[in-house]
Amino acid sequence: MSEKGVIVWFTGLSGAGKSTIAEKLADVLKERGRKVEIMDGDVVRTNLSKGLDFSKEGRDTNIRRIGFVCDLLARNGVVAIGAAISPYREIRDEIRANTENFLEVYIECSIEELTRRDVKGLYEKALKGEIKNFTGISDPYEAPLNPEVTLNSETDSEEESLGQLVTALEKHGYL
Ligand code: ADX
Repeated sequence: MSEKGVIVWFTGLSGAGKSTIAEKLADVLKERGRKVEIMDGDVVRTNLSKGLDFSKEGRDTNIRRIGFVCDLLARNGVVAIGAAISPYREIRDEIRANTENFLEVYIECSIEELTRRDVKGLYEKALKGEIKNFTGISDPYEAPLNPEVTLNSETDSEEESLGQLVTALEKHGYL
């Protein structure tokens, strides 16, 4: 069993399933005796990134902070899971370039499906113009060009996605 630290970096639109799969992955990893931490965008924005807005600058600062902490953890043997929208390719690639082990996980899901799910009711508000700069509606999302893993929460079940992810971690020598 590998004890190598790694950043597992989820990216994808709000509601695509980043936090859900991140939690499930953390459970599997802990069962296998690994140390795990999750840096979830929604949670980080209540503490480390409290007060940051959703402008490009606010998002970049949030993502760089998450990347910085994840790197500290990963270099100490922890599987550091980042779960934020992280809409800008350049900043994700910057984190990749500044850490040793990085596995990017893109969770795909169409806007139609996300609007249908609308767990937090935010898509409806964004479509009405009540929330400005909402990712995927009125703000950009740059999908990764070469992610190590692509999951699809529209076509695959949570268990299927989790299985694909665990297999990828094994294949890359992190498990
Ligand atoms: S990121 O762009 O900086 O990576 P992050 O993942 O931390 O975003 O936060 C995204 C969450 O904030 C969404 O899931 C949603 O609940 C909430 N949110 C509030 N306003 C926005 C917005 N304008 N765009 C996207 N998400 C928003």
